[in-house]
Amino acid sequence: MRMVDLIEKKKHGQELSEEEIHDIIQGYVANQIPDYQMSAFMMATYFQGMSEKETAILTSEMMHSGDTMDLSGIQGIKVDKHSTGGVGDKTSLAVGPMVAACGAPVAKMSGRGLGHTGGTLDKLESIPGLSVYLSEEDFIKQVNEIKLAIIGQTKQLDPADAKMYALRDVTGTVDSIPLIASSIMSKKLAAGADAILLDVKYGDGAFMKNVEDARKLAKTMIAIGDHLGRDTRATISNMNQPLGNAIGNSLEVKEAIATLKGEGPRDFTELCFEAGETMLLMTKMADTREEAHQKLEAVIKDGSALATLAKMVEAQGGDPSYIMHPEKFPETKEVITVESLKTGYIEDLEALNLGLVSMKLGGGRATMDDQIDHAVGLVLKKKVGDHVEAGEPLLDVHTNTGLSEELKAEILSAYHIVDHEVATPQLIEEILE
Ligand code: URA
Repeated sequence: MRMVDLIEKKKHGQELSEEEIHDIIQGYVANQIPDYQMSAFMMATYFQGMSEKETAILTSEMMHSGDTMDLSGIQGIKVDKHSTGGVGDKTSLAVGPMVAACGAPVAKMSGRGLGHTGGTLDKLESIPGLSVYLSEEDFIKQVNEIKLAIIGQTKQLDPADAKMYALRDVTGTVDSIPLIASSIMSKKLAAGADAILLDVKYGDGAFMKNVEDARKLAKTMIAIGDHLGRDTRATISNMNQPLGNAIGNSLEVKEAIATLKGEGPRDFTELCFEAGETMLLMTKMADTREEAHQKLEAVIKDGSALATLAKMVEAQGGDPSYIMHPEKFPETKEVITVESLKTGYIEDLEALNLGLVSMKLGGGRATMDDQIDHAVGLVLKKKVGDHVEAGEPLLDVHTNTGLSEELKAEILSAYHIVDHEVATPQLIEEILE
């Protein structure tokens, strides 16, 4: 069938067959279908959506567009985790070692940050010497030996997604639930884990702006996982303000290290425990949430969660002394404190804009080719619900390029301060199993 006929079919809201979706993905990866036709198809998908069956087929076709990892050489139920992205989200750096220290094999494939969102790989690369590129053989060996590896995806994994995502980025078709769900799940499925925990964010700093859309996305991804035989569960969490206090690569690694010592921020610690409990249930390392919680508490208390992170860093060529002595991470030239102009309660703290400030300081990329400065970023002193006096610090700016009046104004306008008391927002909305 001609591509134009398939575009017409989707435009009129008709369901595409397995063969038709196969032809579209194969044709696009082989450069037989041009970008302009694929753009039209994705825009039609944006408006018409896809059935559960079509989305599962699309995911499977994307997943099989390149190499898939065979992790059968890893003993036990292998678990992977994925966040849909946000600001200050360093969860994998803490929850990975926590779960691995409890004995569950964590085989995690991560991405890089773009725009206001950070990426786990960039955070890890702030540790000198650490490589995120391992062969499949070394990845399997490392997970068997220390139960934890976090690596980047190779170019051969899910080439359909790489091509489609780049096109979606410039054709206004990123925020389509079937396209996001198939993009995320095709990569996760190709990466080979048996169990997948999704942290689906909603709010100002996330792709999904409201909880209903986040729930819809989570349900779509769980249905894909079920369809393709993987245990897939999801946490829906709030990204209306940054997660934890640190935003920026090495600052976030340091916050993850503090959390592994039991000294992390309350909200971030809560999310790590919730995610860790689900991962222990999925890998059958615990029978109940209470048992899982106790196991996670124990590995923080006895230092084995922190030691597991250090072992992973060493196995991937990094200097493990940075984990035990985080004061070794290079500091920026200056740390500038921004103080509140008003007295009151913090009602809102715009995650998106603070993520953009960190990016503009050099901590993130506007395009995939940008170099990043691992040391820069922000450390929040006040969050939603807190009281602040005029003149009290709101946050510290870690910078190598000073702080322009413009950036300072952006920071101040990200904080909404009101006269009345404000409740601390709920972080975890729901867990879908
Ligand atoms: N993350 C992805 O990998 N794909 C999307 O489409 C959105 C977020």
